Amino acid sequence: MNSHKLLASILVLGLGLLAGCSGESPNKPVSFQKDVYPILKAACAECHTVPNGEGYQKSGLAVGTYEELMKGTKIGPVIIPGQSLNSSLNRLAEGRPGVDPSIQMPHGKVKLPEAQLTLLRQWVDQGAKNN
Ligand code: HEC
Repeated sequence: MNSHKLLASILVLGLGLLAGCSGESPNKPVSFQKDVYPILKAACAECHTVPNGEGYQKSGLAVGTYEELMKGTKIGPVIIPGQSLNSSLNRLAEGRPGVDPSIQMPHGKVKLPEAQLTLLRQWVDQGAKNN
């Protein structure tokens, strides 16, 4: 490794650590239309679609539009803007400790890749906007 590469690696590492400390959010704005919606469409819409999706029928949650998503389940919202830690959508998708594996989402399927979980989390933390 020459010294330039070494320096670059140290810089990248340093920036990574800085980003980690700031709670990973504000840097890059996450878009609902471009980033979040395609993830939901691919991984969740199969079951969370009005009127016949199994997940929609059981929980009341549909992900076909921003409005449906923000309305949440029969019981209430699954997203609290600005608070991914308290949003059940993030908790279930990430399968956080305390989440029973039987209700991890997507239901009965492989967990979303880490990069997608991060996007969902950042989008919520940035205010869950319809952007
Ligand atoms: C294979 C079908 C299926 C897929 C795919 C799926 N879900 Fe679900 N989802 C369900 C069912 C069924 C329920 C009803 C609760 C239960 O029986 O576990 C549910 C319930 C939920 C709930 C409400 C839980 C509660 O608090 O009542 C959330 C939030 C949720 N799903 C999010 C998602 C997200 C986000 C995705 C995509 C990453 C997803 N689901 C993909 C079937 C699915």
